[in-house]
Amino acid sequence: MTLKGKEILLGVAGGIAAFKAAALTSRLKAAGAGVSVMMTESAAKLVAPQTFYALSGRPVRLSLWTDPTSAHPHISAAKDAQIFCVAPATADIMAKAAAGIADDLLSTTILAFPGPILLAPAMNRVMWSKPATQRSAARLKEDGFYFVGPETGRLSCGDDGVGRMAEPEAIEKAIDEILSGAAPSGSAD
Ligand SMILES: Cc1cc2nc3c(=O)[nH]c(=O)nc-3n(C[C@H](O)[C@H](O)[C@H](O)COP(=O)(O)O)c2cc1C
Repeated sequence: MTLKGKEILLGVAGGIAAFKAAALTSRLKAAGAGVSVMMTESAAKLVAPQTFYALSGRPVRLSLWTDPTSAHPHISAAKDAQIFCVAPATADIMAKAAAGIADDLLSTTILAFPGPILLAPAMNRVMWSKPATQRSAARLKEDGFYFVGPETGRLSCGDDGVGRMAEPEAIEKAIDEILSGAAPSGSAD
């Protein structure tokens, strides 16, 4: 494990799997990493930012415009971290990242982040299989983004299929592999 002493930026987008990002935060902290969390507006409706504050020990960034600690939160958040993990990555954030759209804190930080970015997609199986989402995933892979999952299994909407977010353990392993210079074993195929 290479996580001890590493700085990890965790972006949480508005998927129901945001609750699993809380467990991921705990695991990364337990492994000795520093974890800074940013959430989209939708994510903050699904899981309270206070949960991530409590688990990471750091205030959670929520907006480009209301961060009392920085005039350029997307730049300062990107500066200290060795890796940016977005979990869950929604169809929306993937489409924005694939197109270079930067209209909120998370999408702007994706554009401003100079290091490796790992996406853990999570969504309904129909959303995942839509050509638009598949185009986003293919473009992001071409652009050098790393992927872990999505997995096949039971989805929060009750369906079975592809779209389940990788488990926190698998995401931690992928982060570790990227930081060690090995290609992660999970993929968006
Ligand atoms: C209860 C609930 C669960 C959702 N789960 C997902 C999801 O797992 N994946 C996804 O792509 N969108 C999901 N959505 C839709 C997104 O929240 C919506 O597209 C939103 O605009 C995403 O914004 P963000 O990417 O800025 O977080 C969900 C919406 C609701 C109300």
